Amino acid sequence: MTIRDNISIIVAIAQNFAIGKNNDLLFHLPNDLKRFKEITTGKTLIMGRNTLLSLPKWPLPNRRHIVISDKIDDCFEGCEVVSSIEEAVSKVKDEKEAFVIGGGMVYRQFYPIAKKLYLTLVHKDFDADVFFPEIDYSEWREESRKDNYDEKNGFDYSYIDFVRK
Ligand SMILES: NC(=O)c1ccc[n+]([C@@H]2O[C@H](COP(=O)([O-])OP(=O)(O)OC[C@H]3O[C@@H](n4cnc5c(N)ncnc54)[C@H](OP(=O)(O)O)[C@@H]3O)[C@@H](O)[C@H]2O)c1
Repeated sequence: MTIRDNISIIVAIAQNFAIGKNNDLLFHLPNDLKRFKEITTGKTLIMGRNTLLSLPKWPLPNRRHIVISDKIDDCFEGCEVVSSIEEAVSKVKDEKEAFVIGGGMVYRQFYPIAKKLYLTLVHKDFDADVFFPEIDYSEWREESRKDNYDEKNGFDYSYIDFVRK
């Protein structure tokens, strides 16, 4: 598949590209969850089945949910289930921007075709069992960056928005 201008990825990653462990997130960053809500509200979310099941509650309000799974007979309330990334892309073809929200397996498949990357980068390594694909920063142009410090966690993190060159 070629680059899709309306497909964006949103992800929170550690310095070592770690994104999850035991089907959960690696850190709790309330401000990042707020940012996620602001960016994605009113939009379509595309996710793998594990990520849906990792949410404390679904569907997330005011967002269309597309879940990728081979178990298409499973019924996830408030979600549309598709069985391939092609089908997900086709379902959002008329939308201005749709967000791939994880997890590892789904990010790996969408990374080569996504046009934008909304990154929350925690400047610390984490032990994990799921990783984001290694980012080749030479392929991406930084559009905006905001550096932050989280007192409770005691680490620095940055919001960095990239667009594919
Ligand atoms: N840091 C972050 O921003 C972030 C964001 C989201 C998730 N996460 C973390 O990531 C982890 C989950 O990631 P994951 O890699 O285990 O799972 P995932 O990508 O969420 O879901 C994987 C599942 O999606 C389905 N799937 C994926 N590609 C498919 C395809 N091409 N065709 C058909 N089905 C497909 C399969 O479901 P079936 O088995 O039903 O076929 C597969 O088992 C959790 O730890 C979560 O907390 C982190």
